[in-house]
Amino acid sequence: MAVLQILGAIVAGILGFLWLAMLWAGQLHRPKRAPPGSFGLPVIGETLQFIRDSRSKNPQVYADKRKAKYGQPVFTTHHMGYPTVMSIDPEVNKFILQNEGKYFLSNYPKSVRSLFGEGSIASTYGDLHKRIHNAVLSFINTTKLKQIIMADVEYVIKTNMSNWEGRTVYVEDECKMMAFNIISKYLLGLMPGEETKFLMKEYKKFIEGIISLPIRIPGNYYNRSMTSKENCIKVMEKIVEERRRIPHSENKDILDALMNDTDQNGGKIPDHIIYNNIMNLFGAGDETGPMAMMCAVKFVYECPKALDQLREEHFAIRRRKESGEPLTWNDYANCMTFTHQVINETLRLVNPAAGVNRKVVKDVEFKGYFFPKGWLAFPYFRNVHLDETVYPDPLTFNPWRWEKKIPSIYFTPFGGGPRICAGQELGKLEIAILLHYLVTQFTWVHHEDEIINFPAVSFVNKLPITVKRLQ
Ligand code: HEM
Repeated sequence: MAVLQILGAIVAGILGFLWLAMLWAGQLHRPKRAPPGSFGLPVIGETLQFIRDSRSKNPQVYADKRKAKYGQPVFTTHHMGYPTVMSIDPEVNKFILQNEGKYFLSNYPKSVRSLFGEGSIASTYGDLHKRIHNAVLSFINTTKLKQIIMADVEYVIKTNMSNWEGRTVYVEDECKMMAFNIISKYLLGLMPGEETKFLMKEYKKFIEGIISLPIRIPGNYYNRSMTSKENCIKVMEKIVEERRRIPHSENKDILDALMNDTDQNGGKIPDHIIYNNIMNLFGAGDETGPMAMMCAVKFVYECPKALDQLREEHFAIRRRKESGEPLTWNDYANCMTFTHQVINETLRLVNPAAGVNRKVVKDVEFKGYFFPKGWLAFPYFRNVHLDETVYPDPLTFNPWRWEKKIPSIYFTPFGGGPRICAGQELGKLEIAILLHYLVTQFTWVHHEDEIINFPAVSFVNKLPITVKRLQ
């Protein structure tokens, strides 16, 4: 009897907790005007279905199934404890992205905001956000800087590939290493060496705690992340000290751009906010870039016609140069038409950022779809990128489809609005230069592998390829 009473009390307790959790999550107060959909299970909602579908070979099925069921591309779901309006309608997605700061606010998990810290681009809004975003976005804005960045990216990729010949390399590892070295140069002016190795090691530890309980307890993930961040900051402090001792007038990297940025009153960005942003920028550039690089290698290999055309385009560039002569920004911007098509097609199929999260801060309705305040909005790009009315045979890698102009609302791998990717040019440049040196120097054979789509794009076996020098 006592056992039954205890069991009864436990069940009642659990139900009470779930009821409170549902109440907290707004499930019991679902506005009638919200789009149709399901909240799934109490508390966890449809998170598990989303993860399961996202990890499958066809991650677009999650939204496709719901669109078919509810008869519209905007529907209610429930992710990570929040009622969510998910959209695969390109106009609605554009509306959400453009209305950042008005009806919607960028919404990273609390642990992400807390780890990157005060004033970091992920956790800041309003004027400071604008200032940092513009400093990063406009960094590649002069011809001279473009050429310097071009040379840096080229140096890192060429040096990394110089020992590929005759070996089996893991493209995923190589791309991650190259992207980290590139971003270290771009952010802090560091050439590959002991310092970048140290930063990479510490940064990897830092990122392990990115989804964790944001409380520092000795030994927990969050604490280890914070310790690694402190170690990275020590490296940055040394660089900043050096630059203040020997000032220079032109911005050479993002650290310079942030150190020299001033507001209308001549106020500078405090050092701790600069360091928080550099950590944030490592995160922004270190994950998505390599995903796109390695998938471009895979797609091009699997489409011999594209590989031939790519070789032709890059050999045409080489023929105009002396042996070993570096690439120029003009080569990248004006002589790589087909390469840019390959890059677009890779981003369309891979979706390094398949969607972005926003918090609804004010009730709003658009195209008849209502977004209740306090919910999440989830503009999801993956399904728009696979819309067969825009991209016939959408699952096939077909870079020639980009010969025709595709309206920009159907292609948003870098997001949009005030939060549009601030490093998109760098991301594309990395892919273009990697492809240049790959196709002009080598032939290669892929070994069995498979893409994993979630939580980040990666390969089961890290994409091993055996490389030979091109005769
Ligand atoms: C192919 C590679 C890349 C892809 C697909 C990509 C994609 C994106 C997307 C979709 C967003 C928007 C996030 C949102 O709206 O919440 C974003 C933001 C951002 N990206 Fe990238 N990114 C790439 C590479 C890079 C690189 C190399 C950098 C290096 C600096 C970078 C820096 C940023 C920053 C700073 C933001 C935040 C902008 C803000 O919140 O104001 N990204 N990226």
